Amino acid sequence: MEKRIAVLPGDGIGPEVISSAVKVLEVIARRFHHSFEFVYGSIGGAAVDAYGTPLPDETIALCEKSDAVLLGAVGGPKWDQNPADTRPEKGLLAIRKHFGLFANIRPVKAVPAILHRSPLKEDLVKDVDLVIVRELTGGLYFGEPSRKTHDAAVDTLVYTRVEIERIVRSAFDLARMRRGKVTSVDKANVLQSSRLWREVVEEVRAGYPDIEVEHQLVDSAAMKLITNPAAFDVIVTENMFGDILSDEASVITGSLGLLPSASVRTDGFGLYEPVHGSAPDVAGKGLANPAATMLSAAMMLRQSFGMEEEATAIEQAVQTIYEEGHCTADLAGSGVRPLSTEQWAARVAEEVDIQS
Ligand code: NAI
Ligand code: MG
Repeated sequence: MEKRIAVLPGDGIGPEVISSAVKVLEVIARRFHHSFEFVYGSIGGAAVDAYGTPLPDETIALCEKSDAVLLGAVGGPKWDQNPADTRPEKGLLAIRKHFGLFANIRPVKAVPAILHRSPLKEDLVKDVDLVIVRELTGGLYFGEPSRKTHDAAVDTLVYTRVEIERIVRSAFDLARMRRGKVTSVDKANVLQSSRLWREVVEEVRAGYPDIEVEHQLVDSAAMKLITNPAAFDVIVTENMFGDILSDEASVITGSLGLLPSASVRTDGFGLYEPVHGSAPDVAGKGLANPAATMLSAAMMLRQSFGMEEEATAIEQAVQTIYEEGHCTADLAGSGVRPLSTEQWAARVAEEVDIQS
């Protein structure tokens, strides 16, 4: 297959983790006889410096001409004091909105070789295999904020039936390919938008008699994610709850450096990026863990390109390299000498080459 991939490295460790993932994708292309064209664009703080805006038109045009987008991370102290429109994070919100990427998918899966890195007991973590499906283009983050007076500010939380139904359907479809369970998280005891959410989930479930459904209030879901994370399969929720719960879930496996994400719409186009940020504290030192970006690339192969075998090859190689005891600095315990970002990436690339 021929695919064009828009690559947006971004700031901080973005360029390092992206170059690692691209190396692995190059091996995949060679071994599986695909042709991947990588076209590079600017986003975030790097784009603010070069173009005066975190999402230049050139970058949008480049993504429009591509089959999928692979993104590193954006942000850093250099731009923290910028006004809202020239903050790096604005580039992320804008690109999701521009491309209508309404579903943010974040898998959290225990990696057997490094269970001991989790802050939770190994027993609780070993069977964790869940996915958070977060609504990404509605809700509070896209409502109409206003500063009423010196002493009052307002944000609005709006959801329409159409917005809820398409994200809920994505979650049910995903559950069908997994263990067949959907947990819908809301705050229906307080919020009107959550009551509508619950109503729509009940309507959609009628078309999925094979799927087990439960409703949970967000506060109790937050507790259960810690006390019994293995009980979840697919969690579907609105934008802000999903933002918070997915960060909570991200600590379960022991490092942010392991977690991939996809932001997609129904036609297969998607943006793939690690869950973590630009980690300015470790940038440029060879300390970054590129696993999350590699696993995001694997999600891209599977979800946007339908390349199941190729995706599995990357996931398998990452597991194998951990099983062999090799890791980057974020996962190295006492007495273990970690590999640099580049060295670790080279091991994974080699493993993909051998296995495929
Ligand atoms: P962060 O995720 O960048 O870092 C949190 C901690 O985890 C840091 O100690 C960092 O060194 C470590 N870490 C994260 N990813 C790592 C990796 N791959 N390998 C090794 N260590 C890793 O979050 P933080 O520090 O709150 O934010 C830093 C900047 O990133 C800020 O400007 C923030 O706005 C931005 N950010 C961007 C996101 C994105 O681009 N999607 C998401 C979250 C934050
Ligand atoms: Mg967040």
